[in-house]
Amino acid sequence: MTPELSIRPALPEDCPAIARLISLSARELGANDHPPDAVEAALRSGAWGLDRQLIADRTYYLVLVGKDLAACGGWSFRRTLYGADDGQARSAERLDPARDSARIRAFFVNPRYARRGLASLLLACCEKAAGLGGFRSLELAATVGGEHLYRANGYTGSEHIEYAVGDGLTLKGVLMAKRICRRQGQNTTGTRSEFHG
Ligand SMILES: CC(C)(COP(=O)(O)OP(=O)(O)OC[C@H]1O[C@@H](n2cnc3c(N)ncnc32)[C@H](O)[C@@H]1OP(=O)(O)O)[C@@H](O)C(=O)NCCC(=O)NCCS
Repeated sequence: MTPELSIRPALPEDCPAIARLISLSARELGANDHPPDAVEAALRSGAWGLDRQLIADRTYYLVLVGKDLAACGGWSFRRTLYGADDGQARSAERLDPARDSARIRAFFVNPRYARRGLASLLLACCEKAAGLGGFRSLELAATVGGEHLYRANGYTGSEHIEYAVGDGLTLKGVLMAKRICRRQGQNTTGTRSEFHG
């Protein structure tokens, strides 16, 4: 029997499990796109990691397959674009839905569940919630691996960036965005949201 798939907001007590998932995902899936020393530096520096503000805001979600934590990711109505609690360039300032784009934040999939549509499912959930929050567009700083996911889900962008992660190392990425339909909380272009179990 296929285990049941569920999505729920992350709770403070989930933090240790989320932190473990982020490290595992970064080290295994992130290592396909970045040198291992850059992955370690990203985890150490807080460029990749747990952002408890998202959990407090109830905008960070978990995908569970049975009891297995299979993926995490979220959106935000705050200005911070990426990074953990102790990351750089943080701002808790609330964005204005009439003027600003909501953020897509911190997507990490358990390697055992990669390429089964879980991140796309989470994206659809975030887009709907941001739309219901009044936002008409979403923005994010995608890493190389993430860029494929977001392009496959209707995000565009060509401004390449490099995040400094310490020790002279960087993570390469790209700034991306997508318009969504505010009234219905639905995306205007396709989001692939089907779990292939
Ligand atoms: C990026 C990541 C979140 C994708 O999660 P996922 O659940 O495997 O993604 P999905 O199954 O929803 O992928 C949907 C589509 O996106 C594209 N895609 C996703 N990951 C891809 C990859 N590594 N290479 C090429 N295309 C990819 C494909 O078109 C895929 O569809 P397909 O499998 O039918 O070809 C996952 O690889 C991950 O956690 N990586 C490490 C952390 C990270 O880089 N996070 C992003 C931070 S911006």
